[in-house]
Amino acid sequence: MKKRLVSLLTIIALSVSMLVGCGGASDTTGDSGNISQNTTDTAKKTASEESGGDISDKKVGVCIYQFSDNFMTLFKDELKSYLVNKGFSEDNILIVDGQNDQSKQNKQIQDFINDGVDVLIVNAVNTSDAASITDMAVGANVPLVYINREPDADEEQRWQDNKWNVCYVGCDARQSGTYQGEIIADLGKSTVDLNGDGTIQYIMIEGDPENVDAKYRTDYSIKALEDAGWNVSCMADEVGNWEMGQAEQLVADALAAHPETEVVFCNNDAMAIGALKSIEAAGRTVGTDIYLVGVDALSEALQYVMDGKMTGTVFNDLFSQSHSAGDAAARYIKGSKNDHYIGCDYIKVTANNAKEIYDSIN
Ligand code: BGC
Repeated sequence: MKKRLVSLLTIIALSVSMLVGCGGASDTTGDSGNISQNTTDTAKKTASEESGGDISDKKVGVCIYQFSDNFMTLFKDELKSYLVNKGFSEDNILIVDGQNDQSKQNKQIQDFINDGVDVLIVNAVNTSDAASITDMAVGANVPLVYINREPDADEEQRWQDNKWNVCYVGCDARQSGTYQGEIIADLGKSTVDLNGDGTIQYIMIEGDPENVDAKYRTDYSIKALEDAGWNVSCMADEVGNWEMGQAEQLVADALAAHPETEVVFCNNDAMAIGALKSIEAAGRTVGTDIYLVGVDALSEALQYVMDGKMTGTVFNDLFSQSHSAGDAAARYIKGSKNDHYIGCDYIKVTANNAKEIYDSIN
């Protein structure tokens, strides 16, 4: 696992220098700082992981919004193996499936509290319910680490104002959207504007609107094209709920109605893989008469990028995120504090670096 982390950090460093080299590294990370600062922070965090203190008898309750989500399945598996490596006993790591149902998840959280867990790691079904989740945990004096779905700014402010042991670990989705747009912009307008009408016709397939990642990726991918001075025209903007099958159908319908489509943006790779099926079924060829980007860098998507069947994706670093969440949970258990926001960087992935990323995570 260490080898994997070291190679990921190398890739981050390489990507940063590549981006700086071609002048494409716009800082869209807002409060979470610039890329090299975050990379340094990640390295520091990895190097300074606390050791010592027996945590083998401590219990961790992990709530995942939905096991059938491809990305969250990889995330929870990595989180579990990282927690075991940190010294938690496998029997004390309890991971439950919220099945995309907030009332079910609330009950799971309450059961974990009744069961005496020492820390909670929660991937909320609905971030709009975060305040009541926080209240449950704080009321029972159980530290809480939110992952993947970021609660809103007011909620995070409450943790800070009250000095509660509550934090969020995740990436700034604006960066992933920007990278998607830049992958397309980097191809050059004359390449992407296949019908030569001066405007880029695109389809957008969005994730579940409960996750702010969906909104940011949608907005910022298009903003990157507009910032490059391109005219864009939206052919269809549909919600695919992060799911391959839904995206496949939506893209089939949109392509049939709008054959002039030049780019398909999907908020994640599962949906991009679904989109690819419909693109091929419509007799279209990515890289020749249409372009396709996703986010996550699932292994299957990386293979498609290497094969030229997807234009690119953006690495959503589940290793860094799950390890930071595990570290934050352990710090709380040992009586230490955490920053209320623990960020991580995305990495732009094209045919140039897809193999490096693939080799690092497989
Ligand atoms: C990932 C999606 C995933 C979602 C779950 C996003 O960050 O990119 O693949 O479905 O999180 O909340």
